[in-house]
Amino acid sequence: MTKGHARQGTATIQGISRRDFMKFCTVMAVSMGLPEAMAPRIAAAVTAPKRPPVIWLSAQECTGCVETLLRATHPTLEHLLLDLISLEYSETLCVGAGHQAEEFRARSIAANAGNFILVVDGAIPVKDGGIYCKIAGRPVVDILLETAPQAAAVIAIGSCASWGGVPSAAPNPTGATPVHKILAGSGCVVINIPGCPPNPYNFLSTILYYLTFKRLPDLDDKLRPKFAYGRLIHENCERRPHFDAGRFAEEFGDPGHRQGYCLYKLGCKGPETYNNCPSILYGDVGSGSWPVGTGHPCFGCSEEGVGFTVPLHTPARPLHVTPPAMFPAAIPEEGAGATALAAGVAGLALGAGVVALGLSLGKQAEEEED
Ligand code: SF4
Ligand code: SF4
Ligand code: F3S
Repeated sequence: MTKGHARQGTATIQGISRRDFMKFCTVMAVSMGLPEAMAPRIAAAVTAPKRPPVIWLSAQECTGCVETLLRATHPTLEHLLLDLISLEYSETLCVGAGHQAEEFRARSIAANAGNFILVVDGAIPVKDGGIYCKIAGRPVVDILLETAPQAAAVIAIGSCASWGGVPSAAPNPTGATPVHKILAGSGCVVINIPGCPPNPYNFLSTILYYLTFKRLPDLDDKLRPKFAYGRLIHENCERRPHFDAGRFAEEFGDPGHRQGYCLYKLGCKGPETYNNCPSILYGDVGSGSWPVGTGHPCFGCSEEGVGFTVPLHTPARPLHVTPPAMFPAAIPEEGAGATALAAGVAGLALGAGVVALGLSLGKQAEEEED
């Protein structure tokens, strides 16, 4: 669909300044838990002339997962995404339509069998023969079952594809099913990138990892890349000092809420949700650009059995007692305002890199104990 012209050593790389490009590669390296020195290797992989073909199937979805990818900046993500991979087919982004698009998809699958990455957004309905989501008159479940075995790997992007998400909410009238369950026993390699929508950099980092090392990143027991989903949100949250000190917002707009106190009593699911939201933030607009940063509790959008399952304001069930990743111990109550300020400044100072450097003890410590 697109042709990449990226070359190293030029002043710009596909319209992105070389400085911004290397900065991007460095952030990607650190967000994958790799040393910054890996940035040149990532840059080399990104600018290699041969890009992996990608077939993108959309099932029961809202297009939010595609939108989130297209709206990132610094550098513009679609620029990198479309030059990084060879996007062969996407119902949302295809120029062609109808029979033309379907024929191109079939030709591309045949030509790239065993080598392409299959990306799927949306859940797969299976009730009544899968009639609740059809592409070109065929149930998407059939298309997935015939396409996935020919792919090198399958990436289920978003909570709908990863574990059912919104379409699977009770009573799940269409039998919405996650991609990995549809493909269970097929031998297909499936990676989940949950979130509603997921952070685009978690998807891009996974692609970059694959490009750079020619293998997939380490996955957890829910098939999520550990570099992105290895820590509880609670471990890296800038409001954590308030949690530790017992200072909570009791209701929206009360003095505690206005001072940036912990949102646990408003139903924050950070203590039972694995994701890197507080570390890499959203939308490239700076500090505070993630749900808790804006004053709203995390509702566990990326965690199966939490988001769209547990009521929004029901208190979280903390999974384990984990120490904060890097914030200082809370100071006494008389300094509450100062603590709020300190937490805010700490959040401001944190970039994707620092948090991902592995300073957190939480899950890792628990794993070591096991
Ligand atoms: Fe939309 Fe969320 Fe599902 Fe993505 S995960 S398709 S954003 S409902
Ligand atoms: Fe942050 Fe939520 Fe944990 Fe409070 S409960 S520290 S707001 S993640
Ligand atoms: Fe979702 Fe919670 Fe992050 S609602 S975006 S997992 S803070």
